[in-house]
Amino acid sequence: MAPMAIIAPSILSADFGRLAAEIEDVDRGGCDWLHVDVMDGRYVPNLTIGPLVVQAVRKATQKPVDVHLMIVEPERWIDPFVDAGADGVTVHVEACVHLQRALAALRGRGKRAGVSLNPSTSEEALRYVAGDVDLVLVMSVNPGFGGQKFLPSQLDKVRRIRRLLDDAGNHGAIVEIDGGVGVDNIGAAAEAGVDAFVAGSAVFNQPDRKAAIAALRAAATAGKARRPR
Ligand code: DX5
Ligand code: ZN
Repeated sequence: MAPMAIIAPSILSADFGRLAAEIEDVDRGGCDWLHVDVMDGRYVPNLTIGPLVVQAVRKATQKPVDVHLMIVEPERWIDPFVDAGADGVTVHVEACVHLQRALAALRGRGKRAGVSLNPSTSEEALRYVAGDVDLVLVMSVNPGFGGQKFLPSQLDKVRRIRRLLDDAGNHGAIVEIDGGVGVDNIGAAAEAGVDAFVAGSAVFNQPDRKAAIAALRAAATAGKARRPR
């Protein structure tokens, strides 16, 4: 059973000049995972982080490092990011030709195998890998930048994905949401079936990160309690 709510601050909104201190701040503030957004300037129109920075994140926290690959041919980068210290790696279904192979490679290395769907991608893309995933990341913005507006259209997709995973017997797979998550929508996401919540600006743009994480967790927990059984 997944814990009540996994709060995963995205370091994309952190101050990179003092990255270790920023990570320690949200770590002490009670986050569950650290989310790392890797962008290649091809799959998404932005360029960010490579394995070296993941190594630095790994040194700054004991908590799980959740690596989100927004890159083409992500299968080429699984080993470097696992070697750098990722506990889980998520690849985009739109960017990965041999998706089942990539997921099997991650599990083969004992890591959480994640797959992500852009807002316009149907949950049907998961049908034949529903038993091969440990995590499904639903993008609630078009990936590329922090600070964008949450797309409520993705909540229906969350419900369908939860059902698809359960129908495949994969009850332990985690549904994660990413993009524009804040106190105003995290409850609805939890109610729809989300267990892990990425939050960039809603954590790092707040002066008190501990209070921000606590507020997100409270709203998510309340939403989860409203989830139909
Ligand atoms: C978007 C990234 C997100 C982003 C979230 O492409 O995958 O993880 O950093 O930032 P917010 O929470 O500000 O939308
Ligand atoms: Zn992300």
